[in-house]
Amino acid sequence: MKTHLLKIPLLLASAAFIFISAKSFKEVKGLKDYYKKYFPMGVAVRPSELSSEESKLILNEFSSITPENAMKMGPIHPREDRYFWRDADTIVNFAVRNKLKVRGHTLCWHAQTPNWLFIDSTGNNVSKDVLLQRLKSHINTVVSRYKGKIYAWDVVNEAIADGPEFLRKTKWTEIAGEEFIEKAFEYAHAADPNAVLFYNDYNTEIPAKRDKIFKLLKGLKDKGVPVHGVGLQAHWSISTPTREELEKSIEMFSSLGLQVQFTELDISVYSGRQGGQLIQGQQQPQQQKSVFTAEMEQQQLEKYKMVFDVFRKYKKNVTGVTFWNVSDKYTWLDGRGRKNFPLLFDQELKPKKAYWEVVKF
Ligand code: XIL
Repeated sequence: MKTHLLKIPLLLASAAFIFISAKSFKEVKGLKDYYKKYFPMGVAVRPSELSSEESKLILNEFSSITPENAMKMGPIHPREDRYFWRDADTIVNFAVRNKLKVRGHTLCWHAQTPNWLFIDSTGNNVSKDVLLQRLKSHINTVVSRYKGKIYAWDVVNEAIADGPEFLRKTKWTEIAGEEFIEKAFEYAHAADPNAVLFYNDYNTEIPAKRDKIFKLLKGLKDKGVPVHGVGLQAHWSISTPTREELEKSIEMFSSLGLQVQFTELDISVYSGRQGGQLIQGQQQPQQQKSVFTAEMEQQQLEKYKMVFDVFRKYKKNVTGVTFWNVSDKYTWLDGRGRKNFPLLFDQELKPKKAYWEVVKF
């Protein structure tokens, strides 16, 4: 009898402990919770991260994922008669299991495209008809497979030139002129009429490039092409963009009746455009020490604070924000003789000071 009586408070205490710890676990707010009334918070992922320590962080912080590489034409369609679904399926299945949104990336791009796409069996360029037929078949196959599971697609990526020309000179334009762009949107819309279709590009805050993207999108809208949004990649740095440039971009693209999403956000700790990357062909700098200095931390935190302030201000127009990579442990900006620290989580997956600025409002 006595032992029984002793057990009761013990049981009560352990029940209370379980209750409290379950509760406190639930109460660890993530980015997605702070921004619930604003827009989904997304992140670009690789399949391996979904079965490692990153997965907990992803689930706690984000409500949307994008495959970093797995759905690009090269990886997913290596030969004309062969698709490689494993990595893309892993990502989509993870999202379905955990009720995350998925942004598909990307159906038509000049980079990471397979060799077979533009040439015939003798190695010559295919005709425009053949290229468009291949594009149609690719888009139809990929979009149909994930219909209902992928809510938005980056249909065409980076078609506008950085230099003085209008379109970037690629195999696409060489063979099919400008028409491949509207065709890609038509094929995607036919395969999944409910998917939200985006044109995606970078350096969208530089006036000259922004004007060209605007012209392209206005032309597509005027023609009735099913384009619903513009993806602004947001590979920024401690020196770019300014608040004025950013606000102007959102306002201009929204004026076309398009949704705006920031699709590949990172803020390089080195100044310059496109993630402070080196321009291709430029000499590699000497190996720099990979130190995240207090000055970088401060400048980056201020830029993150500013851009999220703007995102919230334009919440009517901004329908999604996606980070390009999970944490500073691995980012696509690493290498080239230096490590970068462009994200909100450090190499131990802990929130950086910038994180607390982003959620403080
Ligand atoms: C990058 C990936 O992060 C890298 O792993 C890959 O080697 C190259 O592509 N703009 C885009 C993304 O639209 O697809 C690119 O992703 C980054 C720039």
